[in-house]
Amino acid sequence: MENAAELFADIVGQRRSVRAFSKEPVPRSIIEEVFTVAQQAPSNCNTQPWRVVIVSGERCDQLRKVFSDAFLSGEFSMDFPYDGQYEGVYQERQYDAADQLYSAQGIERSDKDKRNAAFMRNFTFFDAPHVAFFFLPEPFGLREAADLGMYAQTVMLGLVAHGLASCPQTALSMSADRLRDALGVPETDKILFGISFGYEDTGHPANRCRVGRAALDDVVRFVG
Ligand SMILES: Cc1cc2nc3c(=O)[nH]c(=O)nc-3n(C[C@H](O)[C@H](O)[C@H](O)COP(=O)(O)O)c2cc1C
Repeated sequence: MENAAELFADIVGQRRSVRAFSKEPVPRSIIEEVFTVAQQAPSNCNTQPWRVVIVSGERCDQLRKVFSDAFLSGEFSMDFPYDGQYEGVYQERQYDAADQLYSAQGIERSDKDKRNAAFMRNFTFFDAPHVAFFFLPEPFGLREAADLGMYAQTVMLGLVAHGLASCPQTALSMSADRLRDALGVPETDKILFGISFGYEDTGHPANRCRVGRAALDDVVRFVG
């Protein structure tokens, strides 16, 4: 595998958050392969503390309504609530990412209605035919949440390798109780995020968004 490094960089580089999907369903065999390969993700003491529910078809459509109704009615229940706002360089990156996303869609920063409408698309999974929910069982916390992050990135890279696209979404953890009810998930499984996935709708303006990254020197320090 001479070109493994190139191939790897290519797959990592191709992954980005896609916010419009075609309705074409992904064959079950491909979904199973992606999630089977992702089982190779590392975890603290090999605990593999991820619990995943993948929803498709009619159940997916029902959930779009559940989430949208919950958000519009002001209902909000997060297992892992936001603690405060981003500050400093983190806030700058947050604002920059939002600017990129809205300007790709021709939405002015001041146009609250259009921004809200674009945000609401989170709850309909950006029209994706599938959504996966990533739960962390009690009593796990920060350490094991990192395991889930590694697992989820492996899933997303696997999707790219199959010509698929995805969007990780904390927005899908904002109605935790309703979600558990709808999917028959025990109270002890806490929702961290969801990932909408499927084939990219390449014509949608939201998918023109490309956000940058900090330079290596800003984040890595070499010692010795
Ligand atoms: C855990 C996690 C949660 C995220 N939640 C959302 C979300 O709720 N809605 C959304 O549109 N994007 C969400 N994103 C996508 C980020 O905005 C995106 O990863 C970041 O801007 C970098 O862009 P890229 O993924 O296209 O490289 C989330 C990403 C991660 C890793």
